[in-house]
Formats: sequence, structure tokens, C-alpha cells
Amino acid sequence: MPTLIWLNGEIIPFSQATINIEDRGFQFADGVYEVIRLYDGWPYTLAEHMARLERSAKAIGIFMPLTANELAMEIRRFIPQAGGGEGMIYLQLSRGVSPRNHLFPPIAETRPTLLFYIRPLPPVAAAGEGEPVKLSTQVDDRWRRCWIKSTALLANVLAKNAAVDAGADEAVFLDPHDQTVSECSASNLFAAIGGKLVTHPVGPKVLPGITRDEILICARELGILVEERPMQIEEARTADEVFISSTTREIAAVSHWDGQAVKNPHGPITTALHRALKERVEADLAR
Ligand code: PDD
Repeated sequence: MPTLIWLNGEIIPFSQATINIEDRGFQFADGVYEVIRLYDGWPYTLAEHMARLERSAKAIGIFMPLTANELAMEIRRFIPQAGGGEGMIYLQLSRGVSPRNHLFPPIAETRPTLLFYIRPLPPVAAAGEGEPVKLSTQVDDRWRRCWIKSTALLANVLAKNAAVDAGADEAVFLDPHDQTVSECSASNLFAAIGGKLVTHPVGPKVLPGITRDEILICARELGILVEERPMQIEEARTADEVFISSTTREIAAVSHWDGQAVKNPHGPITTALHRALKERVEADLAR
């Protein structure tokens, strides 16, 4: 175990360092990081790593509590205290601690979490030596596993914030290759088209929402035809009714999409499904 850690400006024993449960790095992967090689205590290409960290932080709107130069000085000061040697510096900067919400907390009220420490590593083999490695091909599906309710939510968090910046409440994910829409940053998406209920199938692009499942059960009970298929954005935006669903929202009718009015918010299908869902909740509570 490393002996020391630099945590938010203080150097303390590694074993005593703690991170708040509501740190956004932990809850949303809402952070950036660097790994810097240490050769005999010398941080190689430190300035380049600091410049990339600055770029990464800026790209997701995290305010760096120290400038790149100040941070480089802190790292150089820390290395001899922590023992130097052969190793790597692991550095992480998260958006900080705030009650869980996809929306960014106000900058003035949040202090980013910044930490770094040294992990010892064996020296790298000499050129022409060292055990060669074996490879295995894997399909690049980063991140096409939306069915996993993963805490790797940075893309969702950025989309939600972009949507709010655009004057909306929730973001719909669009596949730019085929112009289909899948789900939202923290909810599933439904449309009523010609009396049918349409929603994207769960899988690589859609989380199997528990509320989504409940709604599909309600639809079948109400005799509403369900089509689980991708929708083109234009088809969805011009649907008769659009709504989103999640555990915290139940069903929320959609009034506008990209500033354009939806035909019939709180329309008959949305309202019937929401009523049926509430009845299921009540029946469950009465048990
Ligand atoms: N989000 N899709 C995404 C990407 C979600 O994050 C969620 C839920 C849903 C709806 O799933 P369910 O009906 O099981 O809540 C769909 C939760 C509410 C959140 O992150 O806060």
C-alpha cells in the first residue's frame, strides 16, 4: 500500500484517506485522471500530463483548484516525501461532493476532489528484452452496453447538462448514423403513434427500465398495442404523444422537443398508462 496521499491540498497517510459517498467521481464517474511514470523519482513528461489534465477537466467543465503549474509543483514536492523511486503517480480530479443529481452542482458551492499518490512499479525492461505480450481481438463497443446499470454515467451527465443549457429538462440520445433515438439521460422514452405505443428495445442502447417494464404490462392490460422498435427522430418528435419514464418520475408527459411543441402532451395514452401505473403502485402498497 502507498504510505502517503495528497488529498485536497493535504498530505496524509494513505490508510487514513477517505472520499465522501456522494463524491460525483464515485457516483457518476464524473471526473478525469492522469497516470504519470516515475523514473527513479522523476515524473516523466509531467508538463504534458498536466496539459492533458487541464484539457480533460475543461472539456467536462470541472474547475481545476490549482493551475497546471501549481499542481506540477505540488507533485514535485510530494514525490521525495512519498519515497520517490520507480513507479507511477495516479492522479484523479472529480467534480466533488454534492447530493446525487445528474445536473452539475453550482461551481460556487462545490469543491472538486483532487488527489494523487504513488504506486511503486518494477523498472521497465531494457529495449529488446522483457516478456512479449499476447493479444485478443474484442469488438469496440465502448459504450454500447446500456443494458448494464453502470455508474459510468459521465456521457449521461454531460448530455443532461447540455439539454438543460438548451432550455430543456432531459436529453434524448440520438444515433447520428441512422438518426434513431433510443432513451434519455436518466429515463426511457415512449411515443404514441397512431394509437400504438412505441419504445426502443432494451439492450446495447437502452437500459431495461423497471418503470418501462411496468408500463408495458399496463399497456398490455389496457389493450394498447406495443411496438418495441427504434424510431427515427422525426417520427418520434412528430408523434401524437411522447413521454419519459423512470423510478423517480413514474411517467412524465413531454410538451416540447428541441423547442418544437409535441402534438398532445398528457394525451389519452399517456394519461391512461400513468393512471394504470399508479393503480399498480397502490395495489402493491396495499399488499
Ligand atoms: N435512472 N435509462 C437510463 C439511462 C436511466 O438512468 C434510468 C434510470 C432509466 C429508467 O429506469 P428505471 O425505470 O428502472 O428507473 C432509463 C435513475 C432514475 C437515475 O439515474 O437517477
